Amino acid sequence: MSSSSSSSLHIITLMWCLFLFFTWCVEVADATSSTSEMWFENLVKNSNNSTGGSKVEDAQYFHIYYGQTFKVIKNGVDGKSYLLIQNNTKMATRTKYCTGRIKSFVIPLSNYSVETESFPVSFFELLGLLGTLQGITSDTVASECVMKSYMEGGIQMISKTELDKLKQFTAHFVGNTDEQACNFATFLPFYEDTPLQRAEWIKYVGVYANLEMRANQVYDSVKENYLCLTKVAANKTTSFKPIVAWLDYSEGTWSFTKDEYKMKYVVDAGGENIDESMNKNTYNISVSDNLDDLFAILCTVDLVIDETYVSDPATYTLSTFLQNINIEDKSSIGFLANQRLWRYDKRVLNSSLDWYNGAVSQPQLVLADLMEAFFPTGNYSTTYLRNLAKAKPVVSINPQTCTRATSAAMEPVVVACQ
Ligand SMILES: *[C@@H]1O[C@H](CO)[C@@H](O)[C@H](O)[C@H]1NC(C)=O
Ligand SMILES: *[C@@H]1O[C@H](CO)[C@@H](O)[C@H](O)[C@H]1NC(C)=O
Ligand SMILES: *[C@@H]1O[C@H](CO)[C@@H](O)[C@H](O)[C@H]1NC(C)=O
Ligand SMILES: *[C@@H]1O[C@H](CO)[C@@H](O)[C@H](O)[C@H]1NC(C)=O
Ligand SMILES: *[C@@H]1O[C@H](CO)[C@@H](O)[C@H](O)[C@H]1NC(C)=O
Ligand SMILES: *[C@@H]1O[C@H](CO)[C@@H](O)[C@H](O)[C@H]1NC(C)=O
Ligand SMILES: *[C@@H]1O[C@H](CO)[C@@H](O)[C@H](O)[C@H]1NC(C)=O
Ligand SMILES: *[C@@H]1O[C@H](CO)[C@@H](O)[C@H](O)[C@H]1NC(C)=O
Repeated sequence: MSSSSSSSLHIITLMWCLFLFFTWCVEVADATSSTSEMWFENLVKNSNNSTGGSKVEDAQYFHIYYGQTFKVIKNGVDGKSYLLIQNNTKMATRTKYCTGRIKSFVIPLSNYSVETESFPVSFFELLGLLGTLQGITSDTVASECVMKSYMEGGIQMISKTELDKLKQFTAHFVGNTDEQACNFATFLPFYEDTPLQRAEWIKYVGVYANLEMRANQVYDSVKENYLCLTKVAANKTTSFKPIVAWLDYSEGTWSFTKDEYKMKYVVDAGGENIDESMNKNTYNISVSDNLDDLFAILCTVDLVIDETYVSDPATYTLSTFLQNINIEDKSSIGFLANQRLWRYDKRVLNSSLDWYNGAVSQPQLVLADLMEAFFPTGNYSTTYLRNLAKAKPVVSINPQTCTRATSAAMEPVVVACQ
């Protein structure tokens, strides 16, 4: 088929679609996926009613469009669009999409499940959505209230390979972009570059539950507190800002991690990242030249955040760090002499870190922790960070530490800021 006849066919089909609107155009549209996408693009272009909706201010990887009876989320990571149709409309019974680029869901979701490995369920908790969470895929979820609901029988455990069972839920949220069933919805805040951009993904969840107002309110509160703390941090800097390195050890080598959001945290908390030009990527501790280079850099660093993964964080102590890095004389290295070695594994449940859950939706708490690490007052009890050099232990969270009714919304914390 020539391209001109193909595109005129598309236009005719598209006009048909617009004319018939939702009666049977979806079936026509499904016949060829590019026609379907054109029809859809048109729908999005004509959906400009954001009354009572969420407006994305900071996040880069999703957009929300509003129609009168539906909404569209465009996910910029996987390139997919989600057509969310209100349950009380005719469109909800007639329209179903599951193409490579477009999926439809009837909202508000009557139930949902989550692939819980390293998944930030706290976003759902801030919106008060645990009451309709009915399935999880592992008990390595760092949320005391999700675990409480699971222990009380409110949530089923389903292996992530049991697709037939996962298909029973109105939506199944996953944190990756792998090949997926029709009811899978991706939730990808980890792709964003800054802490606030990640936190704004609460609006992405809110849209599926018609909870835009609540999502906006939570994000506004988090953002206001975060920006207030940033101003305080900027004022705290005395003559020099502390120089901070994030370090990771794996298979005999140390490396400096440079994730954008971590660099941003350091700057926002009033610190300075080590100069990128100074370090190469990895240092093999069995190679003495490598070790000398690493020590030379570490001598210029004021504070280290050790990110080394271990299956049981409780067993990771200062001596584990010293062993891994092969340092005998602690006094020669400033951050060790001054006890400024931290880890972000303070809150743990079943070996999984709340750093990958609660810290993503409430970055103001991480910022406050970093400020206490950079400019110690001794007055602030950190949430996610523990001082390894001072032998601070991990805090095990468990179902008993969930103090609210599981279906009630979790309130965002507002850190004192003056
Ligand atoms: C928004 O929608 C209204 C009515 O649905 C329409 O009149 C208006 O032209 C649209 N505006 C834009 C910028 O598309
Ligand atoms: C916009 O959406 C709101 C809420 O869904 C609805 O109440 C309102 O009538 C809509 N406005 C227009 C102009 O379509
Ligand atoms: C739509 O969802 C609301 C809220 O969950 C529910 O109360 C209502 O019964 C649903 N309506 C239909 C037609 O499914
Ligand atoms: C989830 O909700 C859908 C639609 O209301 C229903 O058909 C399905 O049985 C529910 N799934 C579970 C596991 O309750
Ligand atoms: C920053 O410090 C200046 C001078 O000490 C003070 O006037 C200002 O109020 C401070 N700002 C904040 C946000 O603490
Ligand atoms: C580190 O160096 C040792 C000795 O040269 C070598 O055997 C080992 O494979 C190196 N490790 C890595 C991860 O490159
Ligand atoms: C996970 O935590 C729950 C609640 O504390 C516990 O019952 C369960 O045995 C733990 N699972 C594993 C694999 O440790
Ligand atoms: C600790 O907090 C108390 C009460 O809020 C305050 O008076 C005191 O100045 C604080 N100490 C430091 C070192 O910030």
